[in-house]
Amino acid sequence: MCGIIGCVGTDETVPTLMDGLSNLEYRGYDSAGVAVQNGKGIATFKRSGKVAEVRKALPESPPSGTVGIGHTRWSTHGPPTDQNAHPHTDPESRVAVVHNGVIENYDTLRAELEATGNTFVSDTDTEVIPHLVAHYLDQGDDHETAFRRTLDRLDGSYAVAAIIDGDDTIYCARHGTPLVVGIGDGSYFLASDVPAFLERTSEVVYLEDGEIARIEPDGFSMMDVHGDPIETEIEHIDWDPKDTGKGAYDHYMLKEIDTQPTALKKTLEGRIEPETGTVSLDGLDPGHFEEFEQVDLVACGTSYHAALYGAKILQEAGIEAQAHRASEYGTSSQLVSESTLAIPVTQSGETADTLSAMADAAEAGATTVAVTNVMGSTVARQADETVFIRAGPEIGVAATKTFSSQVVTLLLLARRLAEDMDDGEPREDFDEVLAALDRLPDDIQHVLESSDARSVAHKHIDSDAFLFIGRHLAFPVAKEGALKFKEITYEHAESFTSGRLKHGPLALVTPSTPIFAVATGEVRSKTLTNATEAKSRGAPIVLVTDDCDANADLGDYHLEIPETHELLEGLLANVQLQLVSYYAANRLDREIDKPRNLAKSVTVE
Ligand code: M6R
Repeated sequence: MCGIIGCVGTDETVPTLMDGLSNLEYRGYDSAGVAVQNGKGIATFKRSGKVAEVRKALPESPPSGTVGIGHTRWSTHGPPTDQNAHPHTDPESRVAVVHNGVIENYDTLRAELEATGNTFVSDTDTEVIPHLVAHYLDQGDDHETAFRRTLDRLDGSYAVAAIIDGDDTIYCARHGTPLVVGIGDGSYFLASDVPAFLERTSEVVYLEDGEIARIEPDGFSMMDVHGDPIETEIEHIDWDPKDTGKGAYDHYMLKEIDTQPTALKKTLEGRIEPETGTVSLDGLDPGHFEEFEQVDLVACGTSYHAALYGAKILQEAGIEAQAHRASEYGTSSQLVSESTLAIPVTQSGETADTLSAMADAAEAGATTVAVTNVMGSTVARQADETVFIRAGPEIGVAATKTFSSQVVTLLLLARRLAEDMDDGEPREDFDEVLAALDRLPDDIQHVLESSDARSVAHKHIDSDAFLFIGRHLAFPVAKEGALKFKEITYEHAESFTSGRLKHGPLALVTPSTPIFAVATGEVRSKTLTNATEAKSRGAPIVLVTDDCDANADLGDYHLEIPETHELLEGLLANVQLQLVSYYAANRLDREIDKPRNLAKSVTVE
């Protein structure tokens, strides 16, 4: 949510910043801008709209400075206008600042600064920051002290970076939103997220909350809020820069759907002992979970649907498990204690609601085991333990491959828990689950190659609404199908447990409300009955199941999945629904990778 980029020591500052902004655009795309320090002052270029608008605003020969910062915005305070775009400066452009987060006391600070004659030109909370830095410079502070004194005045959350006229340094700090320094060959980078500079370096240092960094042409140093030095640890990021590109695809989303077989092979790699079928996950060896009595999964959006799927697998294994929407976790009255295992599930590892739910659980005595995709992410740094889903970078705002890898990771974790926890009943048919997991990448490949999703998606595209139904493990899939559909087509899509239809939602059903019926597992016959009831009321039925021939009369359209273990059928059905959403959105000419109003990583509550 908002992307920050910075670079020092390269003679290609503006192109580097622009590449970084393009790579970060999934974090927000309301407006964008850059500021560079070139010895003659600070030059700022910013525009509302996408990063491409800033490219157009740049002069033919952009300034050749060696220090710069940039930003792509997801608006919180003030609409997406040129004036509200970052970087923000003080009136004399001595200080330029980019910021991700929310300054909660900005109105008090702004009133205080206005009272001393400062004039503000934007509606943003961010603009108080350069004004404050300039104010402390006027009081005679050196640059670093002025920056630290400014931070001391801010309430709320921030990742912030500043440049100051006449100084080849980026001053930056983190408090509640992510920031990472990249160490290149004679150059340094700063970003909200590693893909911003991954093609330039994989060596990184993550800032922790309360840490400040000075990044200069000949090195960087870290300190705490008092200016006392902090030791740093350089980490290597094991992602292939090629994975952050679109390749030959028109959209990241389609690429990410298509690469699920490869992603899943990585998710599974080395985690199942072939001889014994023993699962070992990132150091969580047998016996690790013996003391726990219940499991709370907390997550948002697609990750919540994966958590719901995981909770059902755990419940089947006799374990008391619930999936919670992270934003509601602190407000519900569930009992959390030292016998609770809390599992935050989050692709980015930065979702504020999920981090907050994890903190609530930890505060109440729970042990936390994060399931995430991103190494070095906040969740991975704050949880007691972390299991990585290893799906590789996901750039499309609509999560796809990470859902599959999350569910498979949770399935493996469920096995570990079922073996360790007192109430756990390890599945007797686990050999069959393992065989199905082994086939899963090929089964998904088969769906990708044989799917009729494109033609199904094009039918009934002008409908009033799109309904998705399923039971048990197919219910999270129906929910995910509806989320994906509404997110990228902007059409109204809803999901229901199939049994719920007749208790009210059936009133919505008309010939203009196609129903995607996910009929999997032992309960499929009930879903088929509920779909038949909807068909009798005129709804076109899209049947997603493994035996379309047997149900030829019911389905107006069929999306067939290969036969597999019932724990995995939902994943195959989900791939079909991902494709339907993609092709429907493409037909409607939507911004598939950057749907309106959304951002990939939601770092505000
Ligand atoms: O990074 P996270 O998995 O924590 O993100 C959670 C949601 O914001 C995310 O799944 C969102 O719903 C996606 N846009 C869904 O496609």
